[in-house]
Amino acid sequence: MKKILFVGSMYDQKIGVLKEAKKMRLFVALMGNDYPSWGSKYIDLYIKSNNYDSSDALEILDNLNLKFDGVVTFWDRDVELTSKIAEHFDLPGCPVKAATIMRNKYLTRKVISKYKIPNIPYKLITDLSTLNSAIKKIGYPAIIKPVSASSSKGIFKINSEKDIDEVKEKIIKTITPEKDKMFLYNKGKFIFEQFITGQEYSVESVIQNGNINIIGITEKITNNQFEEVQHTHPAPIDKNNEKRIKETVKKVLKAIGADNCTTHTEIKLTKEGPRIVEVNGRMGGDYINTDLVPLARGINIVRATLQVSLNESIRDAISPKFNKGASVRFIIPSHAGTIKSWKIDKELFKKKEFVKIHKDKKVGEKILFPPNAFHDTRAGYLIAKNSTAEKAKKNAQEFVDKYVRIDMYDKKSNC
Ligand SMILES: Nc1ncnc2c1ncn2[C@@H]1O[C@H](COP(=O)(O)OP(=O)(O)OP(=O)(O)O)[C@@H](O)[C@H]1O
Ligand SMILES: [Mg+2]
Repeated sequence: MKKILFVGSMYDQKIGVLKEAKKMRLFVALMGNDYPSWGSKYIDLYIKSNNYDSSDALEILDNLNLKFDGVVTFWDRDVELTSKIAEHFDLPGCPVKAATIMRNKYLTRKVISKYKIPNIPYKLITDLSTLNSAIKKIGYPAIIKPVSASSSKGIFKINSEKDIDEVKEKIIKTITPEKDKMFLYNKGKFIFEQFITGQEYSVESVIQNGNINIIGITEKITNNQFEEVQHTHPAPIDKNNEKRIKETVKKVLKAIGADNCTTHTEIKLTKEGPRIVEVNGRMGGDYINTDLVPLARGINIVRATLQVSLNESIRDAISPKFNKGASVRFIIPSHAGTIKSWKIDKELFKKKEFVKIHKDKKVGEKILFPPNAFHDTRAGYLIAKNSTAEKAKKNAQEFVDKYVRIDMYDKKSNC
């Protein structure tokens, strides 16, 4: 039985990857800060470690006296640590240098420019008092975000001069490790960059021994808080733009030196062509790979990711079996507050396009909006499938609008 080490804490969204590891009959060890309450079903060995400190984590593994066949993470903040573990134990993994670049939005932009891939104007901010000079160079509208955060935490748009003081104040108040340990990484470092307009997409790639396999493009819809509202796979997009996006992603992954890992690249299609938003050195979350890609094309990126870490062939896992569409729509109440009731019309369950609905938050639980909290706006999600992605996208939107209603205790509301 092969032994695999998962690095990073586990939460409900990740159950799908553990299930896949069990289907592959792997011995699963999990190394992280927390043990999930439901873990015993999937986890054979739990190794408690402070993953914010890589030397601590390596020491624990050294003392463990257990040989792993592979190490993997599905968790952005542990991408660098996972590479370090792979290098330390001579296991397949992404080169540490590439992992460091992908965990740092500033280093990623530098590499894109160095390799003359179309980029956007950007500037590193290490002192908020220098923001005004960055604005002079880059102009409005612009985005300021931490260089190493994820899950859309701490993303602020600056539309004009009048926003500057307010944004600075919000950053000082909310982007602190006390509020979220995520902000420990490259603490106090932000990237200020031009705001790019155009449809946003994400691109899944599985890289093994230098071969970059671009698996597919997913369309992404975000809200005013830059949080994802819907993903649809495969993205409804014309062949020419599909080709341009795939070529850009391939060039960027090559420039970064990413290898033996799965990547999730976010990209906007602007009037001037595709422009990178960020490159993540791990598989995309938000049910794209656990649900949408398998439903739409029968491709199993979760399995391929595990196989890469074990140096096994990924050919079957990444080959499409059919060509349909699937979409996930997040259920987001119109404002913050406490959930009073969830109402789901039974008609929903009769629809053949309906796949599943899940409540992340129950009655009595709170919904918080940025900047008071990040990634806490979702009450749940709904997945739909159909013969094409366009149809599945429409189904997911309609099903949430028509059949799902959330009432809140505070003010008037529904979804
Ligand atoms: N320069 C930009 N121009 C326009 N939109 C941007 C820009 N930078 C970020 N965004 C928007 O904000 C979202 C979040 O930004 P980004 O992906 O860099 O942060 P993240 O916290 O790493 O995200 P994730 O949720 O993928 O972990 C992007 O998906 C995009 O919609
Ligand atoms: Mg992102």
